[in-house]
Amino acid sequence: MTINKWYREDLAYIHDEGYKDYPQKSTYGILAILTQNQINQELIVELGCGNGLLARDLVKANYRVLGVDISKSMIDIAKNRVPQADFRVESMYTTTLPLCNGVISIGECLNYLFDDSDNKTLSQPLSQISQLFYRIYNALTQGGVLIFDMITSGESISNPVKGFREGEDWVVLFEKHHNLATKILTRKIVTFRQVGEYYRRDEEIHQQMIYEAKDIVRQLEEVGFQVEISSGYGDFLLPKTHQVFIAKKLDSKSTVNK
Ligand SMILES: C[S@@+](CC[C@H](N)C(=O)[O-])C[C@H]1O[C@@H](n2cnc3c(N)ncnc32)[C@H](O)[C@@H]1O
Repeated sequence: MTINKWYREDLAYIHDEGYKDYPQKSTYGILAILTQNQINQELIVELGCGNGLLARDLVKANYRVLGVDISKSMIDIAKNRVPQADFRVESMYTTTLPLCNGVISIGECLNYLFDDSDNKTLSQPLSQISQLFYRIYNALTQGGVLIFDMITSGESISNPVKGFREGEDWVVLFEKHHNLATKILTRKIVTFRQVGEYYRRDEEIHQQMIYEAKDIVRQLEEVGFQVEISSGYGDFLLPKTHQVFIAKKLDSKSTVNK
């Protein structure tokens, strides 16, 4: 796995400037789920924490937070924003999870295929996700909860899509293509960011696997979670292509990794 390959400095900057809505609008609903599950002021691990916007709101609500992200540039922004939280530049698939009361991953992080692998067929990342669910289950205290969202409906992604977004000192151009056979969504992302007198160009290609919600629910239930799915976080509804999963650990016992 290569740190510093994904969400490099300029894309991390643009994500921070131009894509604040998703974490900000999710916060209220996420805090409500934590409260409903009697999780108050305890340790929350955020996987794919990005620039720390949700971590900041969790800290404000008196939770302790450990944020993990594969992008060093994202973590640099997060550390600056939330000095009270702990952050690690690491993959969620290899990081050691501490005993905690909640695990959260928002912004379709679990769809990404950033960890090195030549074998990008559906079964390989699905088994990687299943291993992650086992590790999360074992790290959670009894009554703990895993909250995350994913893209789960490839058919409704229009194909291909080209677009752009701009800010005062940046422009991002993107092209998305969803391969219905492999279920892989590929985004080519070209950024231009003003640095001094000139605009600097960078380019990243992101791949995401689109899973079916029923497969994710089955993996979670096999691990021992009780699962609910939802179309958003509280009043904040996600695009129709996405689903929120709320997985509760009711039992105190650990499960054995397959
Ligand atoms: C779309 S961004 C969402 C960031 C943040 N959660 C938000 O909502 O603004 C996806 C994030 O997932 C991170 N990510 C993807 N795969 C990861 C992995 N295997 N381990 C840790 N972080 C990962 C990326 O670096 C990126 O910060």
